[in-house]
Amino acid sequence: MTWLITGGAGYIGAHVVRAMQEAGERTVVYDDLSTGIAARVPDGVPLVVASTLDADAVARTIAEHGITGVVHLAAKKQVAESVELPLHYYRENVEGLRVLLEAVTASGVPSFVFSSSAAVYGMPDVDLVTEDTPCLPMSPYGETKLAGEWLVRATGRAHRLATASLRYFNVAGAATPELADTGVFNLVPMVFEKLTDGEAPRIFGADYPTPDGTCVRDYIHVVDLAEAHVAAARRLSAAAPGTDLTLNIGRGEGVSVLEMVELINATTGHGTDPVVTPRRPGDPARVVASADRIATELGWTAKRDVRDMVESAWQGWVRVHGTAVR
Ligand SMILES: NC(=O)c1ccc[n+]([C@@H]2O[C@H](COP(=O)([O-])OP(=O)(O)OC[C@H]3O[C@@H](n4cnc5c(N)ncnc54)[C@H](O)[C@@H]3O)[C@@H](O)[C@H]2O)c1
Repeated sequence: MTWLITGGAGYIGAHVVRAMQEAGERTVVYDDLSTGIAARVPDGVPLVVASTLDADAVARTIAEHGITGVVHLAAKKQVAESVELPLHYYRENVEGLRVLLEAVTASGVPSFVFSSSAAVYGMPDVDLVTEDTPCLPMSPYGETKLAGEWLVRATGRAHRLATASLRYFNVAGAATPELADTGVFNLVPMVFEKLTDGEAPRIFGADYPTPDGTCVRDYIHVVDLAEAHVAAARRLSAAAPGTDLTLNIGRGEGVSVLEMVELINATTGHGTDPVVTPRRPGDPARVVASADRIATELGWTAKRDVRDMVESAWQGWVRVHGTAVR
C-alpha cells in the first residue's frame, strides 16, 4: 500500500512516517509547511507542499502517487489560539478534512486514519476515560476534532470507507533529537523553557482532589503513538469496508504535574523548586485514558515510560536551545 501522510513534516507526522517506513509501508508526505519542517521528511519519501484546502492538489497527489490509504494529521493544534481564531481553526481542521475526504471518496481510497485528541472529552469526571465517556470539548480546537470524527464516521458509512479516529492523550518525547517537538505548548517543553531561562517552573493549582494536589495527565511517547498508527493502518487495510474504530491512545497511567516537574529536574540537572500559582480556568483535575479498547482491537500497548519521554525530549531541547541557564 502507499499511504498519504498529511502533516507528515510535523512533530507527530514525521514519527508516523518513520514508523510506517520501518514497517515496510510506502509513504508520501502532504504538508503545507505552515508549522512543519521539510527536513523532517526522510530522504526518498516524496514531499508535496500544498494545503488540504487545495482540492486540485489533493486529487492530483492521490492519483499521481497511487495512494491506497490516508493518515490525516494535518491540523492546527493550539487550544488558546483556537479561542482567538475559531474561524481559522474550523476552516483548517474541518473544511480541510472535508476537502480531503471528497478526494478520497472520489478516487476510491479505502482506508482513512484520523488524528483526534483527548480534547474531545473536555472535563471528564471519571477515573479512566473510555471511548464511551461523553464528549464535551471545551475549546474550538476540541470541537474541530469532534466534528472531524463525525465527518469521518459519516463519510465512512456512506462511502464504504474503513476509518479510525485516534484520540491521542498527552504526547511527549522524540525518536531522535532532530524530530523533537519545537513548540512550547505542553508541560514538558514549558518546564524546559523555564529551567533554561533560570526561572522556577510554575504549577497551576496544587489544591485539586488528586494525591499530591496537582493535575494528573496520561503521557504517551510519540514513538509508541507512531507505532499505534502502523497498527491502525494495517488493521484498516484488512478490514471490511465501512469498519469504524474510535480508539484512545494513552498509557492508562496518571502522572501528576508535580511528579513530572520532579522528573524533569532530575533528568536535566537544572533542579529548581516549582512555584505554585492559582488554577487556570478549564483545567480538569485528572484525564487518564482507558487503553483497553486499543489493546483489544489492535493488539497495541505502550512500551515506553515517562522517563524515556523526558530524556528524549530534553535531548531535542538541548540540540536547539543548549543546556546553559540564560
Ligand atoms: N501534539 C499533541 O500533543 C497532540 C495531541 C492530540 C492530537 N494532536 C493532533 O496530532 C496532529 C499532529 O500534531 P503535531 O503535534 O504533530 O503538530 P504539528 O503542528 O507539528 O504538525 C501539523 C502538521 O500539519 C501541517 N499542516 C497544518 N495545516 C495544514 C493544512 N491545512 N494542509 C497541509 N498541511 C497542514 C503543518 O505544517 C505541520 O507539519 C494534529 O492533528 C493535532 O491536532 C496532537
